[in-house]
Amino acid sequence: MAHDHREHEHEHEHGHGHGHRHGHRHGHGTDIDWNEMGPLLESQAELFSPVYERAMAWLGQEVTEPGLIVDAGSGPGVVSCLFAEAFPGARVVAVDATAPLLERARARAARQGVADRFDTLAGELPGVLEELDYPADLLWAGRSLHHLGDQRAALAAFAARLAPGGTLALLEGGLPSRFLPRDIGIGRPGLQARMDALEEEWFARMRAELPGSVAETEDWPALLTSAGLKHTRTRTFLLDLPAPAGDRARAYVAAHLSRLREGVGDALDAEDRATLDRLLDPSDPASVHVRPDVFVLGAYTVHTAVRRG
Ligand SMILES: C[S@@+](CC[C@H](N)C(=O)[O-])C[C@H]1O[C@@H](n2cnc3c(N)ncnc32)[C@H](O)[C@@H]1O
Repeated sequence: MAHDHREHEHEHEHGHGHGHRHGHRHGHGTDIDWNEMGPLLESQAELFSPVYERAMAWLGQEVTEPGLIVDAGSGPGVVSCLFAEAFPGARVVAVDATAPLLERARARAARQGVADRFDTLAGELPGVLEELDYPADLLWAGRSLHHLGDQRAALAAFAARLAPGGTLALLEGGLPSRFLPRDIGIGRPGLQARMDALEEEWFARMRAELPGSVAETEDWPALLTSAGLKHTRTRTFLLDLPAPAGDRARAYVAAHLSRLREGVGDALDAEDRATLDRLLDPSDPASVHVRPDVFVLGAYTVHTAVRRG
């Protein structure tokens, strides 16, 4: 799909209406139970940690000695804690609407010994950012902006919370991750591409059903510029875990495909559904739990821009 990022998140975000944020269910299975997603968000961000570390080193070329880093839509805070490690002089505030995920973030910060400069802020983006005590030197929104109805308005609000010279960084775009060869010896070749197409449709419905949804051309540098920012930069970071995947990567692939099975599995044809079920059956020698050709190849794109000093 054109929107990489999502697979990682929503691939599995389907079908678990929670209603605690939007206060209602949409009826097409695009409401996301973020709390339930917590463990998968964690294992995914942990697996992709080398990507985040390289992205942070790249950010660090322009963002020198930030005082305040805000992680907008932090989820369980894996990335927020990586920021705390990458920028040891900074205070980090993880912001999210799902309070239990922020609890996980605080527990992680304590385990990693960074709790003394780690805070959380619970509430709806972008409005909740007004509660920050002071402006951010770096505001990171990792796969969170596309969950807000009016992305242009949200970007303007993010930009308004930057200190002069501060940087806004978005993780949006990239490529859908790949876990298996095109032909896996069972079923019809190209299963992952067909699942990506279904997920793409799901993503479009998810966006259309967000409160205050506004259709937007996803030209992130142009949107950053129209939020009054300058010096846009874009770079893509690759996760390349070749086959045979290790246990952690395999567990992630299995969790990811299970969420897909729940979310879009019913829209697959019978042959693809049967193939997916075999891939997920731990007792099947063709399953992703044991087959030797499982890999993880992912590409995350980061877009940055700076507020005039
Ligand atoms: C796909 S997850 C990304 C989590 C984390 N940034 C990462 O990359 O692992 C999106 C996060 O945005 C949060 N979120 C979604 N809509 C939100 C809103 N309107 N206000 C605040 N947070 C929101 C969710 O609770 C979830 O934690």
